[in-house]
Amino acid sequence: MIEPVSEVKTIAVLTSGGDSPGMNAAVRAVVRAAWAYNVEVFAVYHGYQGLIEGEFEKVNSNFVSNIIQRGGTILKSARSQDFRTEEGRKKAAKQLKDRDIDALVVIGGDGTFTGANIFSNEHDINVVGIPGTIDNDIIGTDETIGYDTALNTALDAIDKIRDTADAHERMFLVEVMGRDTGFIALETAIACGAELALLPEELTDINEVKSQLKNMLKEQKRSSLIVVAEGDETGGALKLAEKIKDDFKQYDLKVCILGHIQRGGTPSAHDRVLASRLGAAAVKVLLEGHSEIMVGIVNNALKITPMRVAVSKKKALDHALIELAKLLR
Ligand code: F6P
Repeated sequence: MIEPVSEVKTIAVLTSGGDSPGMNAAVRAVVRAAWAYNVEVFAVYHGYQGLIEGEFEKVNSNFVSNIIQRGGTILKSARSQDFRTEEGRKKAAKQLKDRDIDALVVIGGDGTFTGANIFSNEHDINVVGIPGTIDNDIIGTDETIGYDTALNTALDAIDKIRDTADAHERMFLVEVMGRDTGFIALETAIACGAELALLPEELTDINEVKSQLKNMLKEQKRSSLIVVAEGDETGGALKLAEKIKDDFKQYDLKVCILGHIQRGGTPSAHDRVLASRLGAAAVKVLLEGHSEIMVGIVNNALKITPMRVAVSKKKALDHALIELAKLLR
């Protein structure tokens, strides 16, 4: 048994915002690591909303048995409007204080961390964030929990669409998730050999899109696949189809929106290992006295980022990958 070095004796853990495959593996790692370090754990259901409403359960190591392979989150998730208010956060702080909870571990994305940052500043609460979102848009970690699985789910679907696109010599616009960032769109586009990728990070010129597609026609491409991030400023795949369909009648244009299938499913080995590392690290750094931070993995090593820095900007796409997608299309 490793002895704690700080005063942290009791922690709470919650999942918040859009769920991502591997969140359960992260919850498991937090509970198991806390158990090993002799720290009590409260599970909080329904994210910040449950924190406000007092949905706490004291749990032991068995609570997280047999969940590492499951998508979703056994703690449930929510996007809480009440936690955006001072009143809501005050209630949440009282719930923690009433139970003598020393620290809160939050698993989620940028919205979750923004809330955690405000909360810990207002109420002097120890908070550690674990990045879990399929969007991969958090700085301070090479990858977020769930991104790898979502990428492979999208890719698997797109490979199937490619078969039928080829058989019927059609053009497909496939929309993938990514409200503000194009990580899933860019990497699926490279991995499936898409003809084009439309990303929120780049301005999309419809005339340019049309002219590139026409050039492909000239090159005798008989089917084509365009990956569109939902957050692209064209308004997504359906709107893009409206804008270009009359110019490409010969392609029998089809739209496929992959949607929430990208959020579920069995987490990949990569996501399970990442979640296990980050969950255990979150507990360890709390015991070492860190607070108001996010744990991440950069170049295969643990990285601690202040929460205010983690929420200060979105992670940027790798420009070299954008160029690669264009080179190889
Ligand atoms: O943040 C993850 C994400 O899946 C985004 O890619 C997407 O825009 C959003 O959540 C969808 O949220 P909801 O499930 O609340 O509609």
